[in-house]
Amino acid sequence: MASGALSVEESSASAVLNSRPLFTNGTLGQASLATTSSSAAEDSALQTLNVDEDQDSAIGGMSVVTTTMSLNASVYDFLEENGRTYHRYKQGSWATTSVYTEMDRLDLQHQLWLLTLNDELHLAPIKNPQHVLDIGTGTGIWAIEFATKHSSSQVIGNDLSPIQPTYIPSNCTFELDDVEDPWSYSHPFDYIHGRALATSFQDIRSVITSAFTSLSPGGYLELQDGALPMRSIDSSLSGTSLDLWQHLTISAAAKLGKSWDAVHTYVQFMEEAGFVDVVETHFQWPTSTWAKGERVKLLGRYWQEDLNRGLEAISMAALTRAGGMSKEEVLELTGRARRDVFDKNIHAYMPVVVVYGRKPALNEVSIR
Ligand SMILES: C[S@@+](CC[C@H](N)C(=O)[O-])C[C@H]1O[C@@H](n2cnc3c(N)ncnc32)[C@H](O)[C@@H]1O
Repeated sequence: MASGALSVEESSASAVLNSRPLFTNGTLGQASLATTSSSAAEDSALQTLNVDEDQDSAIGGMSVVTTTMSLNASVYDFLEENGRTYHRYKQGSWATTSVYTEMDRLDLQHQLWLLTLNDELHLAPIKNPQHVLDIGTGTGIWAIEFATKHSSSQVIGNDLSPIQPTYIPSNCTFELDDVEDPWSYSHPFDYIHGRALATSFQDIRSVITSAFTSLSPGGYLELQDGALPMRSIDSSLSGTSLDLWQHLTISAAAKLGKSWDAVHTYVQFMEEAGFVDVVETHFQWPTSTWAKGERVKLLGRYWQEDLNRGLEAISMAALTRAGGMSKEEVLELTGRARRDVFDKNIHAYMPVVVVYGRKPALNEVSIR
């Protein structure tokens, strides 16, 4: 049975959003990984992820609430494929997931991010940013909340898909844009944010460089992402349909030029672009309520529901376009993988990473 160096018990669900993050870097944990090796920093963060032996105390029956945002999609045309809907603008460039049918899941995932970051929208130490950009904004939920919280900031969210709502704060705007095209904003930004963009770009390095160029001196870039493959703290993920699904998905996405573990390059690419004081923080999202501790269980319940809704969305395009599978074969595989998501004997988790860095001030000498 897996066990880490520390056991964390939290006393009430109401403490969830107010407590400090459980997953902070510390001394090396004892867990071994089922799938691929991880960084020492990631292993360190594992020390609080322990199997709950008393599954009766699980909160697996709780429901997850999400918001459904209004949309004005009729002004744009969408592409139907295998019963899923994809953006037409720069069609196929975001090849691993569909968007239109993803809106509820993205808003659910926003709650998961808030829970992960202790109700914060960012980790970078920003102070009163005037101009803020959210790249690949999706439903725009992050940009809208940021604009609401920071009424003196002007927030722009951009995306390939026009799925953002029309009723938005006056200091928030949305633009249809491809982040991989050259950036042409009329003013520099003080803070640029990008979340859940792991498989979005052919060349994340050039996106990071564009962000560096478009920031004011002293401004921050922050990227927040999960990475496949999911791992487990013991061998319980090996040989499961969930493991097969993720490896087939990773390999099909790679054939389309999309990397599911781009997150592990963020620090290097940011430093190479010229960012300083680059900070990387690791978190984990358990695949179900298998782990001990109420807050960890809640993270697991959210990620379980995210996967439950997202298995087809995440993999259908990649597996049918580049994985040699039919729609029916994908549905059969995701059906089996879904059963594994609800199996608490599988002690798996999604590695999650937040990286931010600062563009040096004009009078700062960069030592590189
Ligand atoms: C998984 S969603 C994340 C949305 C949002 N950042 C969030 O966290 O809720 C990824 C988003 O990136 C967008 N995207 C992908 N490639 C893009 C590109 N080259 N330029 C702009 N947006 C892109 C997709 O359309 C999609 O809305």
